[in-house]
Amino acid sequence: MAASQAEVRVAIATDDDVVAARQAGRQLAESLGLATTDLTLVATAISEVARNITAYAGTGEIVVRPVDGRGRRGVQVIASDEGPGIEDIDRALQDGFTTGGGLGLGLPGARRLMDEFAINSRPGAGTTVTMTKWGPQ
Ligand SMILES: Nc1ncnc2c1ncn2[C@@H]1O[C@H](COP(=O)(O)OP(=O)(O)OP(=O)(O)O)[C@@H](O)[C@H]1O
Ligand SMILES: [Mg+2]
Repeated sequence: MAASQAEVRVAIATDDDVVAARQAGRQLAESLGLATTDLTLVATAISEVARNITAYAGTGEIVVRPVDGRGRRGVQVIASDEGPGIEDIDRALQDGFTTGGGLGLGLPGARRLMDEFAINSRPGAGTTVTMTKWGPQ
């Protein structure tokens, strides 16, 4: 496997780390042959979950990795932190719900941008968002 198609881990603590994670996801998606328009969607979704790490958990990690499935390749993004967790995931996924004075569009937006999207969270323990964008068949 080419170096550009290996898993990349980015520790998230600052705005620069958010940018680095965004670029790592975009580059991996490009190397896997995703459509140009999809590169922007992946990068935007990564920005949102990474910004949530800095805003609500302080620090965390983003892993971007190639995955295979349904005869296609794709980019999987795993954003994890050991922050306060999300009390009500269904509510957090509604447009406009925010506890941080934001627009409340980050998580629902990221869900719409990606093909697969799941949140695991436990109050007091942390949050993991796993999302995937598939490439062409
Ligand atoms: N990693 C996280 N840890 C703890 N809570 C989170 C995390 N990510 C999201 N949340 C909670 O989910 C809510 C909704 O997140 P979302 O990203 O949709 O909106 P926002 O961050 O409030 O505003 P926006 O992203 O539009 O600027 C947040 O206000 C916060 O309460
Ligand atoms: Mg947000």
